[in-house]
Amino acid sequence: MLDWLTFYSVYSSPLDEVLRLLLFILPAYIANAAPVALGGLFPIDGGRKARDGRPLFGRGKTWLGLAGGLSAGLLVAVMEAHLLTGTPYDLWAGHAERYLLIGTLLSAGALAGDLTGSFAKRRLGYVPGAPSFALDQLSFLAAALLAAAPLGVEFAFRPLSLLFLLLATYVFHRLANTLAHLAGLKRVPW
Ligand code: CTP
Ligand code: MG
Repeated sequence: MLDWLTFYSVYSSPLDEVLRLLLFILPAYIANAAPVALGGLFPIDGGRKARDGRPLFGRGKTWLGLAGGLSAGLLVAVMEAHLLTGTPYDLWAGHAERYLLIGTLLSAGALAGDLTGSFAKRRLGYVPGAPSFALDQLSFLAAALLAAAPLGVEFAFRPLSLLFLLLATYVFHRLANTLAHLAGLKRVPW
C-alpha cells in the first residue's frame, strides 16, 4: 500500500519539483545577492595586486560582503526550517540541523565561488564590475552545489534539475542586479 508520503514523492508534479529546487538553492541565491546591500567595506585583497599588475580580487569583494552574505544565507536556512517543516515542501524531513548545515554550505560555497569567479575575471582582464555570464553566475552556482554535494542532495544533480537551476540562476541574477541598480545600490544593472 502506498502511503501518502510515498505517493507524493513518486507522483509529485513538475511544479512541485521546481519549487523544491528553488527552496533548496535559495540560501545560495540570497548569500550571493546580499553583499550588494550589506557589503562594500574592507576589501579582501586590501588593494593588493597579482603579478600581472591587476587586482587580486578587486574592490567589489569585501569582508563585510562575505559576513553579510553568510548571515543572510543562514537566516534564510533558519526561516526555511521553521516555515517548511511539516509542509509538502519540507526538504529535509523536519531536521532543523540539516537545513542549517546545508544552508551554511550552500551560502559559503556561493561566496567562495563568487570570489573565485572574480579572481578569474581579474586574471582574464575584466575590470571589476564588468559582466561575464560564466564567471558571475556559473561560478557561484557550481561552487554552492559542490559544497552541498556530500550531503545527499542527489535530486539537485539530476540533468533536468541542473538545467533548471542554470536557467533559474540566470533569471535570478539578472533580476537581482536590475533591482539593485534601480534601487541605486549598483552602478550597472548586471
Ligand atoms: N560585494 C561585497 N563583497 C563580496 C561580494 C560583493 O562587498 N564578497 C558587494 C560589492 O559592493 C560589489 C557588489 O556587492 O561591488 C556586487 O557584487 P558583484 O557583482 O559580485 O561584484 P562586482 O563589483 O561586479 O565585481 P566583479 O567584477 O569582481 O564580479
Ligand atoms: Mg558583478
